[in-house]
Amino acid sequence: MATWSNFNFQNSTSPLMEQIIFFHDHTLIILIITTILVSYLMMSLFFNKYINRFLMESQMIELIWTILPAITLIFIALPSLRLLYLLDELNNPLITLKSIGHQWYWSYEYSDFNNVEFDSYMTQFENNNNFRLLDVDNRIILPMNNQIRILITATDVIHSWTVPSLGVKVDANPGRLNQTSFFINRPGIFFGQCSEICGANHSFMPIVIESISIKNFINWINNYS
Ligand code: CUA
Repeated sequence: MATWSNFNFQNSTSPLMEQIIFFHDHTLIILIITTILVSYLMMSLFFNKYINRFLMESQMIELIWTILPAITLIFIALPSLRLLYLLDELNNPLITLKSIGHQWYWSYEYSDFNNVEFDSYMTQFENNNNFRLLDVDNRIILPMNNQIRILITATDVIHSWTVPSLGVKVDANPGRLNQTSFFINRPGIFFGQCSEICGANHSFMPIVIESISIKNFINWINNYS
């Protein structure tokens, strides 16, 4: 989860989020190199006394400063497209979780397991026993090391099911069923929030995932009443 003055991404919980972080770092390096180069060029242009009254055009320099940025952009565009299509892929999911956005809470359905369903409301913060503004009464329980499909929809307005450490951010639209998938590669509790401005209590419909072993997951789903 994000803690105070957390400037970077949260630690990844899925292979796809790891790739997203790598892509972010790659793009940031290109950005820093470009910024330094351009500011150096501007500085040296401002602070010199060279004058050439007859320089009106130069085909060669214009050719260079058109092609160089174009090549740089390709180095960002190709990995970006690779990631985009990788995120869209669905690799034989083991279970499907349906997540429904409401004003202002999420509800979940495990359609594969006798349609287990429950609402997930934010809980009041008390005595440092839970996570302020991030904890819910009924958490999503999911098995780690398994491909999971998530179907996302809403009943009233547009919400957005967003869990940063998984690299998932999908809008929940009324009348539409969106699909994405992820693979949780470690146990733990992972937090998310709605990220579509959906009304007065938009900030108070968090998402909590408890990632546990498949054995404990089967135990949980069997004993669900
Ligand atoms: Cu639901 Cu913002």
